[in-house]
Amino acid sequence: MQTQGIASAKFILCGEHSVVYGEPAISFPFKQARIITTLKEIEGSEHQLISDFYTGTLSQAPEKLTAVKALIPHILKRYQCHSVLEITIDSSVPVGRGLGSSAVVATSITRAMLAFLKRPVISSNVLPFVNFSEDIAHGNPSGVDAITVVNEQAVWFEKEKGLQSLSLNLTLPIVVADTGIPSETRASVAAVRDLYQKNNIEVSACISQLGEISREIGKEITTHGDLHTVGDLFNQAHQLLRKLSVSSPEIENLITCALDNQALGAKLTGGGRGGCVIVLCKDKQHAQKMATQLSAAGAIKTWISMIGE
Ligand code: PMV
Repeated sequence: MQTQGIASAKFILCGEHSVVYGEPAISFPFKQARIITTLKEIEGSEHQLISDFYTGTLSQAPEKLTAVKALIPHILKRYQCHSVLEITIDSSVPVGRGLGSSAVVATSITRAMLAFLKRPVISSNVLPFVNFSEDIAHGNPSGVDAITVVNEQAVWFEKEKGLQSLSLNLTLPIVVADTGIPSETRASVAAVRDLYQKNNIEVSACISQLGEISREIGKEITTHGDLHTVGDLFNQAHQLLRKLSVSSPEIENLITCALDNQALGAKLTGGGRGGCVIVLCKDKQHAQKMATQLSAAGAIKTWISMIGE
């Protein structure tokens, strides 16, 4: 028997980093990048993993697959299953670029495994396993990635309150552009924490301003629908994230290119220090032109996402 689990990436519109401190974040599923996990039972005594990074026994997988290595036996143990598996991971989600690759791989594996174990593949069954895996991958994640990827819907998220679904009142023409520089969310969250400990007053102020920006963006996209205001708020959020030390020269290069080409606003998305930027454009045509300009400026990949269309 062979089963499959599919999961799409996500991107954070606003609230990355401040969400770790209890402020709200808004995030969306990103269907253009996804992971498919295929499982089958095999003879032998060791699980086998087949992926772009590594092919071999699961127990010998490299450190960056630590969460995957822990998740598979954890699920099997939870359901008292002794099968030996071949796990094939087929991914179009770039790793370490703020698109939630660790939550996506955990979700696709969990879905494939629940199907294999003949359990209902529903969010309430999947989410605890994805959170288990995210704790290993990130240390102390806010949970926004897991909840967005598992629920596959626009999300308003607060750490203590969990998910509220969002219904958009306007279309956001967004270009997601990849700097090509991988970065570790765990390290950038730790860098903000260090800064917070050293300079509590200034960093607390940045975090509450980021929270206020998320609230204002939330209001704009669900009620008034003014793209220019959302763009201004993107720019303000990026300046604050820069202050929190999570930008990078490659991110700044793409932001400058976007603003030089009449973007309504641009900011980093996710952990930062590399990874992706999101650029708010006037319409689809502008987004298509913007994608070409960002590629010419060094983005290794661009995607156009018409959110809310
Ligand atoms: O870099 P990503 O896709 O894992 O996004 C992380 C978002 C942060 O707010 C920086 C961390 C978190 O746990 O919410």
